[in-house]
Amino acid sequence: INWSYILLVNTLLIANFNLNFLYNQYFFIMRKCFNLALAAFMGCLLHAQTLQSPDQQLKMDFSLTTSGQPQYQMTYKGKQVIKPSTLGLVTKEKSLQKDFEIKGVDVQVVNEKWSPVLGEYKEIVNNCNELRVHLQQKNSDIKVDLVFRMFDNGLGFRYEIPTQDKIHYFELTDETTQFNLTGDHKVFWIPGDFDSQEYVYNESKLSEIDNNKLNLNNGIALKTIGGQYVVQAPLMMKSADGLYINIFEAAVDNYPVMHLDVNRTNYGLNSLLAPNAVGSKAFLRTDFKSPWRTIIVSDDARKIVASNTMILNLNEPSKIKDTSWIKPMKYVGVWWEMHVGKTTWDYAGSQDGTSAQGLKANGRHGATTENTKHYIDFAAKNGFDGVLVEGWNVGWEDWFGNWKEDVFDFTTPYPDFDLKEVNDYAKAKGVKMIMHHETSGSVANYERHLDRAMNLMKEYGYPATKSGYVGKIIPRGEHHDGQTMVNHFHYVAQRMAENKLMVNSHESVRPTGMNRTYPNYIAAEAARGNEFNGWSEGNPPMHETILPFTRLMGGPMDYTPGIFETKMNIYGNKDSKYCVHTTLTKQLALYVTLYSPLQMAADLPENYEKYPDAFQFIKDVAVDWDDTKVLEAEPGYYVTIARKAKGKEDWFLGAITDENARQSEVTLDFLTPGKKYIATIYEDAPTADWDKNPKAYSIRTVEVTSKSPLKLKLAKGGGTAVSFKLK
Ligand code: NOJ
Ligand code: CA
Repeated sequence: INWSYILLVNTLLIANFNLNFLYNQYFFIMRKCFNLALAAFMGCLLHAQTLQSPDQQLKMDFSLTTSGQPQYQMTYKGKQVIKPSTLGLVTKEKSLQKDFEIKGVDVQVVNEKWSPVLGEYKEIVNNCNELRVHLQQKNSDIKVDLVFRMFDNGLGFRYEIPTQDKIHYFELTDETTQFNLTGDHKVFWIPGDFDSQEYVYNESKLSEIDNNKLNLNNGIALKTIGGQYVVQAPLMMKSADGLYINIFEAAVDNYPVMHLDVNRTNYGLNSLLAPNAVGSKAFLRTDFKSPWRTIIVSDDARKIVASNTMILNLNEPSKIKDTSWIKPMKYVGVWWEMHVGKTTWDYAGSQDGTSAQGLKANGRHGATTENTKHYIDFAAKNGFDGVLVEGWNVGWEDWFGNWKEDVFDFTTPYPDFDLKEVNDYAKAKGVKMIMHHETSGSVANYERHLDRAMNLMKEYGYPATKSGYVGKIIPRGEHHDGQTMVNHFHYVAQRMAENKLMVNSHESVRPTGMNRTYPNYIAAEAARGNEFNGWSEGNPPMHETILPFTRLMGGPMDYTPGIFETKMNIYGNKDSKYCVHTTLTKQLALYVTLYSPLQMAADLPENYEKYPDAFQFIKDVAVDWDDTKVLEAEPGYYVTIARKAKGKEDWFLGAITDENARQSEVTLDFLTPGKKYIATIYEDAPTADWDKNPKAYSIRTVEVTSKSPLKLKLAKGGGTAVSFKLK
């Protein structure tokens, strides 16, 4: 590792050590006086510690309260961001919240560069100042280290309990981290639910957060709200004086997800860990390191979006040595047709809990050999890497909401899905198949079958699986956000990596930068995806303008963009009010604004065939990048991002807006100066409107350079997508 260390071990101590050598008995008394003064001075020094960002705009002050509670506060450009806030852990045996003394501190500078396997940048700079405070509790003698890392983007800190005699295995019952804010900030929030993040964002003041006022009849089958004022992280806020503040966590491993309990009168946030089945939070042992708690701050919203690199920097480097098999993928799939009710996942169509074998086919099964071949043809013709097929395996008749242990075996196909024929056909056409493992929440069952499931994938050459966790978790009593599930996702990523397989999980723990450590964990859902537009009130136009500030902070999302036919009343039910809340070109722009190295073209092949000129953008757009520039951003309003395709001179731009039309002008100074590019601009027609006229778009081609201005005109709920090709 290229860590460059500057070890600032207490210079005063070194000086004192030298004194021991230099001074003889004549100076005995003098030295004694010096030592006393030094001890007093050291006490003061240790009592309060300051840590600054490399650019000195951010400052964190650490101290102990009079009762020996660790406490920190933070400023940005001299403005307070976090008021004095205390830190602590509670184990079943012992409260580790107060009576601490500082035993020493270590400081180091981290400055390195690294390259993600798949990502938004070719190279990421990891530059921060680190302060490690060694604490010891007076009565118990238990040692706890607090580690703070200050980047130019913000602060990360974590708890460590090193190996020691006084504590070994322990049960964590609470973490009492505070984030005390300075005012009644505007906040984009979703309820703190231990089982789902698939919510629409609410925009309000901190003091107005109230889960009891929400309509929770929202298409989410399973909910476990953690409390009336509990919200999820990443929490995106904006202060009255224009500071953007994002509270999140990084590198969550062997630990539950952190939610935030809002104190609406003091504007404080308190950590609330997702509980386990026995009512505590985590079973742990020393040498223990908690996830990092993160506070990202800027007066420029664009910098918040670009600060997801800080989350990656707080994660461990890749545990996978040979990553040559990890590849980005654009895919289509036997998928949307089930969501819109055209076909079914199940073969027999009986939801009565009996197995499908021996039951009469319902005649509407989507995952047939024939239908899959149709998608393979479509993928091959249009240059897609993969085809996902859901509903290929036995079990779908009784998968939903039953809390059943053994619904799927992940290896037995339905009688009308010929594994060999499908895979031979795909191979001949140069297309990869994407496996589907819906667990229906029965994680115990999935782990039991995992080896057989992976062997089947290897036998037929599937490079990746999409997994799903709809329903209540088994082991029963566990939540989607608990330590058990966090560990499950690491276990699956690691086992898949051993077999050179990639994973994309739906209904998973929301990622916190794990794709750095396990780059085969190629994407995840873990937020409200496009699918909700197919069968519920859907996602309002502002939804996708918030995701880059929240869900995307932790890693790539399988949002499944690209729905061209946005009104669901074309599928059988003429009265259906369900719809995608965007224009067609906004669906295109999402391929750029929502980063993922795994992107689906989610609509039906026949719908793409109706709009071949617009479909061209989806065919062209890259999914793995050398560079990313956030050109415009305001959470809840708009986002404009430009990205440079990996290893190429091509750039792509995506601009999206909320329910309001928007006009702006951006300069193309990201393009290489002196070179000419052909820009193909896919934009809303003047009459476009996400609700009234979503498919009114136009496409124009212009020659541009890095000096050219680009006028963006976005309809209500609209977007613009641009591809730039070197002339
Ligand atoms: C929910 C997932 O998000 C969706 O993509 C999938 O089709 C269904 N579960 C069935 O597994
Ligand atoms: Ca889902």
